[in-house]
Amino acid sequence: MTNLIEIKGVTHAYKTPAGPLPVLDNLELSVPEGEFCAVVGPSGCGKSTLTRLVSGLMKPDTGEVWLHGERVKGPRKTVGMAFQNPVLLEWRTILQNVILPLEIVAGSMPQKDREARAMQLIEMVGLKGFENKRPSELSGGMRQRASLCRAIVHKPDVLIMDEPFGALDAFTREDLWQTMRDLRAAEPFTCVLITHDLRESVFLGDQVIVLSGRPAHTQYVMDVDLPADRTIDILYTPKVADMLHILRDQIKLAQGREPKVH
Ligand SMILES: Nc1ncnc2c1ncn2[C@@H]1O[C@H](COP(=O)(O)OP(=O)(O)O)[C@@H](O)[C@H]1O
Ligand SMILES: [Mg+2]
Repeated sequence: MTNLIEIKGVTHAYKTPAGPLPVLDNLELSVPEGEFCAVVGPSGCGKSTLTRLVSGLMKPDTGEVWLHGERVKGPRKTVGMAFQNPVLLEWRTILQNVILPLEIVAGSMPQKDREARAMQLIEMVGLKGFENKRPSELSGGMRQRASLCRAIVHKPDVLIMDEPFGALDAFTREDLWQTMRDLRAAEPFTCVLITHDLRESVFLGDQVIVLSGRPAHTQYVMDVDLPADRTIDILYTPKVADMLHILRDQIKLAQGREPKVH
């Protein structure tokens, strides 16, 4: 399997009035094509910075970021992004919002094909019947579903999500996790998910990366050895409880606290 994302020895510091603030320290990360990589780490350790480097919005001081065999040197249209705040355009309907990336990257695609592609995803995430509504007429969970459709409508090489489910209530969040798995079962795509929810990282991830405290390096990598057709029930099994325990200890270590003996 080839690696879709390769991050090699990336070091980065922000320039601040108080001097350089080292944020990433010799970070290494590989994500094979089609894999789901969940990234967890202490608050402020450099997770959002990592997403900006992969999407080409920022260049690292040293080290290399490779995407699909090409060195990333600037912003790329082949990266889909989703954030905690869905940032949908209020003057557009849900369908028009989902179509937007196709207007930008697939200029020659006939309008009816664009609509068919957008509707395919809208149906898949359970928003059929809401395509002509405005974003403000939808709940937070529905808006996030629409924003996921918009992020993948143009079939980007990779979907990067920065805490996309963080603002949702626990039940809505679990529904979205299942939707995310259904989407990837129908249409496999590579994902990087930043999250601070360990259950989310295990349920969605093929691998979970724990970043150290700032400046962040890859402290721990967990291969999530669970069936591909998992449902939420799997989170209540002893195996997953053990995995969550290990991740929790790693996070504590990253925060500079001793793990509890157990
Ligand atoms: N543009 C910036 N200029 C200066 N400092 C920044 C900038 N962006 C983020 N930081 C700082 O860098 C550190 C890492 O930020 P970030 O990548 O957003 O962390 P995380 O997403 O893990 O919480 C934080 O201490 C943050 O305050
Ligand atoms: Mg962040």
